[in-house]
Amino acid sequence: MKVLVVGGGGREHALCWKLKRSPSVGEVVCAPGNPGIAVEARCMPVGAEDIDGLMALAAAEQPDLVVVGPEVPLVAGLGNRLREKGFAVFGPDKAAANLEGSKSFSKRLMHEAGVPTARFEVHVNIDEAIETICSWGAPIVVKASGLAAGKGVIVAQTEKEAIDAVRDMLAGNAFGEAGAQVVIEECLIGEEASCLFIVSGDTIVPLASSQDHKALLEGDQGPNTGGMGAYSPAPCVTDAVADEILETIARPIIAALKKKGAEFIGTLYAGVMLTDDGPKTLEFNVRFGDPECQPLMRRLKSDLGEVLLAAAEKRLDGIELEWEEGSALCVVVASDGYPGSFEKGQPIGGLDAVAAAGTTVFHAGTAEKDGVIVNAGGRVLGVTAVAPTVREAQQTVYHALEYLDWPGGFYRQDIGYRAVERES
Ligand code: AMP
Ligand code: GLY
Repeated sequence: MKVLVVGGGGREHALCWKLKRSPSVGEVVCAPGNPGIAVEARCMPVGAEDIDGLMALAAAEQPDLVVVGPEVPLVAGLGNRLREKGFAVFGPDKAAANLEGSKSFSKRLMHEAGVPTARFEVHVNIDEAIETICSWGAPIVVKASGLAAGKGVIVAQTEKEAIDAVRDMLAGNAFGEAGAQVVIEECLIGEEASCLFIVSGDTIVPLASSQDHKALLEGDQGPNTGGMGAYSPAPCVTDAVADEILETIARPIIAALKKKGAEFIGTLYAGVMLTDDGPKTLEFNVRFGDPECQPLMRRLKSDLGEVLLAAAEKRLDGIELEWEEGSALCVVVASDGYPGSFEKGQPIGGLDAVAAAGTTVFHAGTAEKDGVIVNAGGRVLGVTAVAPTVREAQQTVYHALEYLDWPGGFYRQDIGYRAVERES
């Protein structure tokens, strides 16, 4: 079959890489793709947020399956538009995508469905928000309700920090429309895991567990980013914990959406905190995690095209996924300055040597200029390896990264440290 993948980041590179290796897939087309994806797929210059352009591309290409990578086109209703035209789509309609598009909607639905999550309030008024912060005290969490590329969450250690965040969002327009509503949450303590599920109506198939490092700096310090590295499996997610998350978080939220008339077809991503009181939901996303997708695709043995088409056509029941034993680990290389501003167009050398040292180099924010790969985004590469243990996967990636020739890039030196500690 012919598959059209929408997106052009590291997650989409991993999806295209795996689809290309799926026996059921003959051709992969990607919009817009990137220079790394171009090795696996025919890239078409249509932006992932250009809904009309994507509809025209689908009409011209007539793919057997469309896989939508990022959240923005899903929240904008690309799934609805494609389904109206009869395409098989992996990715939810707009109403279900609201689970990620609006944190206030998502938290209220969790509350209605009895899904465990942090205590919360939704505010549009600064004074009322500040009153809540002062009455609950710090640490406390402030979130922009709308989409903010993983950066709209402030885990405040002091009341002042939380109040500043609320002012930035509600008065200072820090996240534009996305921050016009804020969610204030109780701060949960524990270890975090990413639990992803392939969902098709009432059928929910768990993916292997994974864990990412959202903070910019070593030791999980500093501001939140889109993710600086990830690995699979996450040793803290035992089989019993995975079952509990499926039964208390995934099933009830999908059922609650259905009750509202929103059927879910796509990836449900539950960000979970494993607290002393059991797993609690931090957030839902409606797509594969980035960078979690990179280690997951490196470990998946099943035919991805077949699984995603079965989900899109509502015949997922009975399908189970097979995984490579051992661990996969991905280290993100970012542009100096990320998540703030950075200089684009810097040449990146040594990529072949990094791959030759036993890794798969997934491209995220890269571009090609005069035949040379340059940086074009904040998160630029996802260097990924599979090995019998997480420590070996970690060693392989960091050893390979010594061949990278890019003075303007940086990466965390400790991706996977919790899993390595548990393993030893
Ligand atoms: P989110 O985008 O909602 O997952 O938030 C991004 C990150 O902020 C999460 O991965 C957590 O590390 C942290 N976070 C979010 N909500 C909470 C909370 N209620 N308590 C503690 N940390 C949180
Ligand atoms: N890695 C976090 C996310 O994809 O939301």
